[in-house]
Amino acid sequence: MTVAAVRLHPAGLLEAGVVAALQQACFPDDPWDEASVATLIVPPAGFAAIALDDRDRPLGFVMARVAAEDAEILAIGVLPQARRTGIGRLLVEAAVGGSQDLGATALFLEVAEDNPAASSLYKASGFFSVGRRPGYYKRPDGRVAALVLRRNLDGA
Ligand SMILES: CC(C)(COP(=O)(O)OP(=O)(O)OC[C@H]1O[C@@H](n2cnc3c(N)ncnc32)[C@H](O)[C@@H]1OP(=O)(O)O)[C@@H](O)C(=O)NCCC(=O)NCCS
Repeated sequence: MTVAAVRLHPAGLLEAGVVAALQQACFPDDPWDEASVATLIVPPAGFAAIALDDRDRPLGFVMARVAAEDAEILAIGVLPQARRTGIGRLLVEAAVGGSQDLGATALFLEVAEDNPAASSLYKASGFFSVGRRPGYYKRPDGRVAALVLRRNLDGA
């Protein structure tokens, strides 16, 4: 499967169950149910997109919210078997486009310091660090800091 065969689809409240299933597969230690996902993507502030393969099977998702000029990626994930094919990058760009459409001039997110794959994706996608929250994420053997990253959007 190549990324050329992948298409992005906006995910509204009707797709909240699909988004939740993807979130659970990507974050098994912190699963969100359909109702929680639906609450987060209520328009107009919230939105989501899913990546589908050429048979319309979901491979990844992104959820974001906009408050005035600031947008935030709430969660992003790609199924393990579909990683490292460019889908994560596509989903970041979906969040960028959706945030700009809603008037945001900056896009923020939090990433755990022990998540090199996500950190590399964000760095490659133009994000830079603007803060650090010590002990933000719980781990079985303790806590780990979150880095707060920012990407300036067009017009900023
Ligand atoms: C982070 C995640 C979304 C990346 O998705 P992906 O589809 O594999 O990412 P892409 O294939 O688009 O990768 C784009 C770039 O990110 C970087 N990258 C992605 N995964 C990487 C890894 N495992 N190691 C190093 N760099 C990586 C690379 O620079 C890559 O470009 P390249 O393949 O040309 O070198 C995916 O690993 C995932 O779902 N992880 C579990 C959930 C998660 O941690 N989400 C983020 C929480 S903040």
